[in-house]
Amino acid sequence: MAPEDALEYLSAGLSENEALLELGCGRGSLIRGLRRNGWNGYYCGVDISNQAINYARKFEDLRSSWVVSDFESFRHPSKWDAVAMIESIYYIRLGELPPVLRRIMGMLREHGVLLVRLHDPDKHAEYVRMIRQLYPKMTIVGNNLFCIAASSRSVDQSK
Ligand SMILES: C[S@@+](CC[C@H](N)C(=O)[O-])C[C@H]1O[C@@H](n2cnc3c(N)ncnc32)[C@H](O)[C@@H]1O
Repeated sequence: MAPEDALEYLSAGLSENEALLELGCGRGSLIRGLRRNGWNGYYCGVDISNQAINYARKFEDLRSSWVVSDFESFRHPSKWDAVAMIESIYYIRLGELPPVLRRIMGMLREHGVLLVRLHDPDKHAEYVRMIRQLYPKMTIVGNNLFCIAASSRSVDQSK
């Protein structure tokens, strides 16, 4: 089951003609939940685990695609209205976070957002600190949910 807070946030925020990229999608529980909630937009799920993606693919859905890749080397020609990292950002080593996040933020459309969920923000406080340092306009949208708007990219690029 996808975490309810992330599911609610995205179900409320995504419109039908928007596109969602999920990095570290696991077995595809987020898109299953979003479809149950009636969202019908385009989705792409990325995960390093072949096994997870094989399982996710069993969810036959004409508006979804699946890619086996690590975050660092994933490339796609499209830009996204939202990118979700649900309990997956801490698989990026802290030292690698600035360049990897910058590249992920570069995948967003002008009005896009990156949604990050941390299972335990206290345990991963250094990630929260680093994200806030890179993107001071990051907003906290739930106990475990953090949102970075594409509009904060200019701050990051000036560093
Ligand atoms: C804790 S699971 C969360 C899965 C899913 N987001 C969920 O909430 O059910 C973390 C996922 O990140 C994936 N992952 C770990 N390191 C990764 C990397 N470097 N690139 C892509 N995916 C990675 C794992 O295979 C795993 O499926």
